[in-house]
Amino acid sequence: MSEKIHSILILLIGLGLAGLSGCSPKPDEDNFEQKANALIKQMSLDEKIGQLNVKWADTRVIDTSEVNQLVRAGKTGAVFFVWGVDKVRNIQKQAVENSRLKIPLMFGLDVVNGHRTVFPIGIAQSCSWDMDLIRRIERGAASEASAEGINWVFSPMVDISRDPRWGRMCESPGEDTWLASRIAEAKIKGFQGDDLAANNTVMACPKHFVGYGAPVAGKDYNFVDISTRSLYEWYLPPYKACIDAGAGSLMASFNDLNGVPSTANKGVLTDLIRKKWGFDGFVVSDWEAILELVPYGIAKDLSESAALSFNAGLDLDMQSETYLKYLKENVENGKVSEESINQAVRNILIAKYKLGLFDDPYRYCNKEREATEVMSDGMISLAREAAAKTSVLLKNEKHSLPISKDIKSIAVIGPLADSKRDHLGSNLIAGDPEKVVSILEGIKNKIPATTKLLYEKGCNVDDTDATMIGEAVKKASKADMVILVVGEDASMSGESKSRSDISLPGVQQDLAREIIKTGKPCIMVVCSGRPLLLTEFDKSASAILMVWQAGIQAGNGIADVLFGDYNPSARLSVSFPRNMGQIPLYYNTTRIGRPVADPDISGKTQDWRSRYIDSPNAPLYPFGYGLSYTDFAYSDLKMSKEKYTGDEEIEVSVKIANTGNYEGEETVQLYLTDLITEITRPLIELKAAQKVFLKKGESKTLNFRLTKEDLAYYHSDMTFRYDPGEFEVHVGRNSRDSQMVKFSVD
Ligand code: NOJ
Repeated sequence: MSEKIHSILILLIGLGLAGLSGCSPKPDEDNFEQKANALIKQMSLDEKIGQLNVKWADTRVIDTSEVNQLVRAGKTGAVFFVWGVDKVRNIQKQAVENSRLKIPLMFGLDVVNGHRTVFPIGIAQSCSWDMDLIRRIERGAASEASAEGINWVFSPMVDISRDPRWGRMCESPGEDTWLASRIAEAKIKGFQGDDLAANNTVMACPKHFVGYGAPVAGKDYNFVDISTRSLYEWYLPPYKACIDAGAGSLMASFNDLNGVPSTANKGVLTDLIRKKWGFDGFVVSDWEAILELVPYGIAKDLSESAALSFNAGLDLDMQSETYLKYLKENVENGKVSEESINQAVRNILIAKYKLGLFDDPYRYCNKEREATEVMSDGMISLAREAAAKTSVLLKNEKHSLPISKDIKSIAVIGPLADSKRDHLGSNLIAGDPEKVVSILEGIKNKIPATTKLLYEKGCNVDDTDATMIGEAVKKASKADMVILVVGEDASMSGESKSRSDISLPGVQQDLAREIIKTGKPCIMVVCSGRPLLLTEFDKSASAILMVWQAGIQAGNGIADVLFGDYNPSARLSVSFPRNMGQIPLYYNTTRIGRPVADPDISGKTQDWRSRYIDSPNAPLYPFGYGLSYTDFAYSDLKMSKEKYTGDEEIEVSVKIANTGNYEGEETVQLYLTDLITEITRPLIELKAAQKVFLKKGESKTLNFRLTKEDLAYYHSDMTFRYDPGEFEVHVGRNSRDSQMVKFSVD
């Protein structure tokens, strides 16, 4: 059957007109709800329940005939983990040509840091503080994924994370709610564009709703203990930002909230998002999460799990097939109403209409786009730009960086120096490790042939044996400078990869110590999916560049920074602790009755204050921190008025001057303190940020505007409002280095 005839047939079915004369009035083309209702009328209960299932269809592992059979029988509304025009077309064909109702499938995938062109991991992206870059990354990822048949992405991950032991901090936007919310919006815009039905946009699915980033003890899948206030203040706003930006779907998280697993939590899945926030998309479970209600002790069996999840507002069952097996009996015994099944089906069908799948089920299957848009030159240069813009300079003693391209000899040492795979992060799905530029290769590409380049691994990432270190020390001793590339491999972070100790793994500490002992300038390049403990090396290394897992162009982008072709402008989106005991550690803690006078000194001298006796309270590197090769001076911080009344916008201005020797971009951060509050509140909270590019000697005045909403917080009765009174605005380079000005509002 031609695709055109097929689309007409689908349209007729959609109108409830199949088999009739076709002379009935045509409904409004744009009225997806009406179309969905007409289609629902044609559906049996089994077919409805089939739409509420999403099947893992990774054809590398699963027999395609098994998937095809399920699709033909109308027992799945979507599939995931299959991409590539031919494969997708083949499965879609089963749905739209060989199933009774010919309803097209959605094709989902985890596109979390790119698709084929792999970008820096989420936590790295958040350190760019660059919303345009983040939007462009997701725009590119959407074009690439949609060129290979994908129209629904399990992304963005917007879980606030304050505990680096948690393996999935690597995907997260960091510890701050304001920053995460801006990132959330940028990502939704990037994925969904202006028109979901365009063939190069995809439907986003923010995850994991909600509180997944707060497992007790940093252990993935552990229970969480979040107060209603913390939930509203810290964890919900990035999701609200996604929904306000038009996210078409949402993934429920594995964790519980106040004792109710999100999968079965009506309070958040229905009362909050649908009734309060007006969300009209669909909600999918996380992987087989409906099954987990039994070990949670919430459901006595899977039939009850199905009813609890469904009645809570969970539309789509990912992979567990619990709905397929048990929803029907729940309808028959009256525990689930058919009307609510119709509503869930409507949510799914409307998503398919929005994606344009009923008009052309193959709109995302375009061989020409697949050939030209996947890993195009534009994508590769965007990946390089991203690798440079997400690398955070943590230390730069005596301007050790940037490295002069005239340097005579360099020793590149370390277990991650010539690694490729590890830069792709834990979510390696469609990326090809062979296409990664390693750091060693990036350095080779950068230096002239006359520079002598020595390389030695020194140890493997998790070696317990130190025998390879000697050779590395020999090579280091022969060079003018050492670039020491250490950290975690890709398998040490990600889902189910929490660590109880975030030190450099294996004998890498010994390797670093021995290399530093040679007395050669030592540039430490740290690759990992989380902050690591760098306290010792903050004292001993010449420079430290935190590059996270920087994607397919890691080597070139990082070399751009090391050799000064890009002046680092990234700033930490998470605090780096000094030691394990400080965890969880984050900048916006609430004020307390016995604060220490100086968080930088060890608590020994601060008895009867909130402190450790053996460690300062301050982090090693605070939230917002990051160095540049140039210097920036802040001056003329002022408010437009001292007192604001009514709805007046609160305006703040500050002058930034580039006083150093390089052009570069400063990330200017604005924090707010409400001096007297009804309940205890954070000492400071990020409320705005701007990046400003300045040539050498140039200065600019930046203006920030705050509204009354920026001053508001949840009071003891959970109303969100501001208190008239005095406030402080802190503008500066990071959460611990700023200038202050006061204002009041009535
Ligand atoms: C489980 C993960 O928690 C989730 O993030 C992911 O989208 C699904 N698996 C599907 O791969």
